[in-house]
Amino acid sequence: MKRIAVLTSGGDAPGMNAAIRSVVRVAAAHGVETMGVQQGYAGLIAGAFTPMTVRSVGGIIGMGGTVLGSARCPEFRTEQGRRQAIAQMQAHGIEGLVVIGGGGSQTGNLMLHRMGFPVAGVASTIDNDLYGFDQTLGVDTALNTALESLDRIRSTASSHHRAFLVEVMGRDCGYLALMTAIAGGAEQVVVPEVETNPDEVARELRQAYERGKSHAIVVVAEGARYNAERMAAHFREHLDQLGFELRVTVLGHVQRGGTPTAFDRMLGTLSGAMAVELLLSGRYGYIAGWLAGKVQALPLEEVVGHKRELDPKVLQLAEVLAQ
Ligand code: F6P
Repeated sequence: MKRIAVLTSGGDAPGMNAAIRSVVRVAAAHGVETMGVQQGYAGLIAGAFTPMTVRSVGGIIGMGGTVLGSARCPEFRTEQGRRQAIAQMQAHGIEGLVVIGGGGSQTGNLMLHRMGFPVAGVASTIDNDLYGFDQTLGVDTALNTALESLDRIRSTASSHHRAFLVEVMGRDCGYLALMTAIAGGAEQVVVPEVETNPDEVARELRQAYERGKSHAIVVVAEGARYNAERMAAHFREHLDQLGFELRVTVLGHVQRGGTPTAFDRMLGTLSGAMAVELLLSGRYGYIAGWLAGKVQALPLEEVVGHKRELDPKVLQLAEVLAQ
């Protein structure tokens, strides 16, 4: 291979820039040129390619977001869109593609692989919902950001004797919520994987109040049936029974932005390097990510389309700890 391309797709994640930098520099070390694709698959279809050099990726390792831009691209879900993307790459002499992104992005990547185009992936999403991996790129930073917010909320909650519903991202996966709740010492956690009765949550808040707690924090995953807004709406008629006053904070995109942690910089760097090595050694259709204490490659066929489950023991532990 003489020329490859790299793109970031779907929701951005801290550490993506470290992965881009690594792809460009490892490829250059093998005498391979890298084209950066603007705005994910939309840029692939439009042929929005820019040559990247070892110098052009200087200084980006510590930056949040993605210098290539990212997007969700419905057109790429069609066979015609994908054919056009392949035609664009062929017209620009691109022989291999690295896709940095989460589940939806890697589904598109697998489609390209099945159409015979050489691809590799980097497992990247703050949701940590990719099957097969222990931790995807961006999770560590997002978790630390959510925790910092939770610590701040706890201090004001305590001063005012309030209960807070704190909503965290994660799409249909409760991983971020569960880890934020455990590491942040929350009183309760609500995740999509477990059916939660809001009356039961209210009862537990009341009990916490009666036990003399100065605050109560419920971490709610955005994908739960009762997300923060719906839970608060359900409580509204019985607020006086909670004991605490109630407030709601939705952390939202704050969790996706900001400087990547040391772990995410390392993970992005090692995964980007592995993705290039996979392409250059002819192992197509694999994705690199964190598994069992190191970066490993899994076939996209095994990763895409499967659901990642939460560890039931960790779920149970969260309940035990909230006393
Ligand atoms: O997949 C990452 C994620 O941040 C999810 O946690 C969230 O549901 C979604 O993206 C938000 O997407 P958007 O940035 O398009 O609103």
